[in-house]
Amino acid sequence: MEKILFAVQKSGRLNEDSVGLLKECGISIDTSKEQLKIPSSNYPLEVLYLRNADIPEYVQDGVADIGILGENVVVESEANIEILKKLNFSKCRLSMAIPKNVEYIGLQYFQGKKIATSYPNTTKVFLKKNNIQADIHVITGSVEIAPNIGLADGICDLVSSGSTLFLNGLKEVEVILKSEAVLVCNKKLSPEKRKMVEEICFRIETVLTARKKKYVLLNVPDENLQLIIELLHGITSPTVMKLARQDWSSLHAVIEEQEFWNIVGQLKKLGAEGILVLDIEKMVS
Ligand code: PRP
Repeated sequence: MEKILFAVQKSGRLNEDSVGLLKECGISIDTSKEQLKIPSSNYPLEVLYLRNADIPEYVQDGVADIGILGENVVVESEANIEILKKLNFSKCRLSMAIPKNVEYIGLQYFQGKKIATSYPNTTKVFLKKNNIQADIHVITGSVEIAPNIGLADGICDLVSSGSTLFLNGLKEVEVILKSEAVLVCNKKLSPEKRKMVEEICFRIETVLTARKKKYVLLNVPDENLQLIIELLHGITSPTVMKLARQDWSSLHAVIEEQEFWNIVGQLKKLGAEGILVLDIEKMVS
């Protein structure tokens, strides 16, 4: 039987969440990173632990069938690969930043300036679109140090919490790309592999859907039952069960976590008691 070759970042911010997602999908992987090609013990799949920047090319060339990497890497690589799904983790942005004590006059600031970046392709496309001519200086890491050592007037690098910029005396002035982890695949998969990839996508979707939802249980006085049912318009009609306590019912519903926070005050005002909010492991919709 064919095996899906699944590329995962060997080390870095995406590694743990990528392996965790596969596990939540019921695909068991040994997490030892000394071995770079590891077969799943319960699924026709092998994980290839690779350097982040190499993944787009390996997927494009069919060395790996699918993989997880940052959208920023896909854009920068300009590889001919398919983005199957956004994965809703490792959210960050690719931004331009300048020393915090320098006045920012808008994009014209960068006209004729030196910009240090590990993302030359994405930066060039952005500058060209905005008719800015600048000197791009490519460095592969610690980009934030460049203005401090006189190497550049500004930088273009990934920002997540913003603390690296802050600690290096820089301020973010332009967001040029919003990014998150994505599932990518080779464009010329065999029909058999395409089917296997669809199965993996289905499992991932099931896990991702469940992550956004909560299972809510609460006890409510019957006199306000209808009002509370209207508040809890979840995926389907809530389940209502009579309680031993007279004129009270128990309500069960699946709702978006954010929606829960929006309505919890109203639920309490309507007399709801014993409100429980539970994680959902998988959800098939
Ligand atoms: C990235 C990026 C920034 C930093 C931003 O580096 O290059 O330096 O994270 O994160 P923050 O806004 O939360 O401070 P990373 O640590 O992933 O390693 P890298 O230098 O290998 O890219």
